[in-house]
Amino acid sequence: MDYKFAELTKRMGGEGAFEVLAKARAIEATGKKVVHFEIGEPDFDTPAHIKKAAFEALEQGYTHYGPAPGLPEVRTAFANYVASTRNTKVDPEQIVITVGAKPIILYTMLAFVNPGDEVIYPDPGYPIYSSAIQFAGGVPKPIILREENEFRLDIDELKSMITPKTKVIIINTPHNPTGSVLTREDIKRILELVDGTDIMILADELYHRIYFEGEMAPSFYEFDEFHKNIILMEGFSKIYAMTGWRLGYAVAPKPVAEVFSQIQVNVYSHAPTFIQLAGKAAYEGPQDQPKEMVAEFNRRRDYIIERLNNMPGVHALMPHGAFYAFPNVKKFGKPAAEIASYLLEQAGVALLGGTSFGDGGEGYIRISYATSMENIKIGMDRMEEAFHKLLKEA
Ligand SMILES: Cc1ncc(COP(=O)(O)O)c(C=O)c1O
Repeated sequence: MDYKFAELTKRMGGEGAFEVLAKARAIEATGKKVVHFEIGEPDFDTPAHIKKAAFEALEQGYTHYGPAPGLPEVRTAFANYVASTRNTKVDPEQIVITVGAKPIILYTMLAFVNPGDEVIYPDPGYPIYSSAIQFAGGVPKPIILREENEFRLDIDELKSMITPKTKVIIINTPHNPTGSVLTREDIKRILELVDGTDIMILADELYHRIYFEGEMAPSFYEFDEFHKNIILMEGFSKIYAMTGWRLGYAVAPKPVAEVFSQIQVNVYSHAPTFIQLAGKAAYEGPQDQPKEMVAEFNRRRDYIIERLNNMPGVHALMPHGAFYAFPNVKKFGKPAAEIASYLLEQAGVALLGGTSFGDGGEGYIRISYATSMENIKIGMDRMEEAFHKLLKEA
């Protein structure tokens, strides 16, 4: 049957990582070995005490409906976490617990964007930003992140892009896919741009603690006087290796949190209660694994960047956070997506072309180093050989 889908279904995008993973699995099914650099999830298991908390919650009867924004004791625990990691004050009523942090992107668009309103977002950037903006009928206004500026957005350029139609500015630090991190000064300057306006900053800080120059990256929420303009996105997927649990939360001004709860009640009611309690246990239990994981990412980062910079035609900046390298491959004179396909088909290395993150990613490829050192070594050897071949062919 020829289904006549509504217009808005045509305005949604997908996520390149899932598409490349499917292609890589098809190649593996033919018996070939593929090194996986495409997917953005830690190769660590969820810490045991977190799993135990979920089992215990199930045994204690957390198998029923709960309040839309989340269980009160969990909202309090999350508020305390944000207050202590950002040295600020947070009221539990500002917390809305979600199924993964991802829905907060769409909630923000549904709450603030009328058709024709503008939303500024990073390009390259997490692909769901532009998809959610368009889904809500907004006008996507990409701000290009340039290698010359270490992939940090240019704040004067941001200022010049703001118009009376700007409703939301999305910022992601530490940044997927480039690993760039905004300085405290950058953050303050961005906040000053929206001070006294009704523009909301959606601060995606999912990689807050996956930071290599200190314990935590600078955060928008450290600036108390600007909380009224900030929606903070936090979650458990990355730092606690909990991607499959789907747990995240927004920290927002109370009226915004109420609207988010209302949207949520219309979709999936609330995040599963036993999973919320696992999140509370994550924050309140031992923090050894996150620390070990970040130290391991740091080792891998150093190795990968050195290897990449020794490959012909490749140049890679040192990322400061998250677990991605974003090397420049412009010297090959081919579209990034073509280079990514070549590496998958000829060398058995799955990674993403930079354009999976927007037009601003042309000329770059993204390597997720959330895989073992052993795999990374094999992958780097394969890439080096493939790049030598590619240069000869050019
Ligand atoms: C920048 C960024 N924001 C949000 C998300 C969504 O994370 P979650 O698993 O919490 O929905 C991701 C996941 O890859 C991400 O990289």
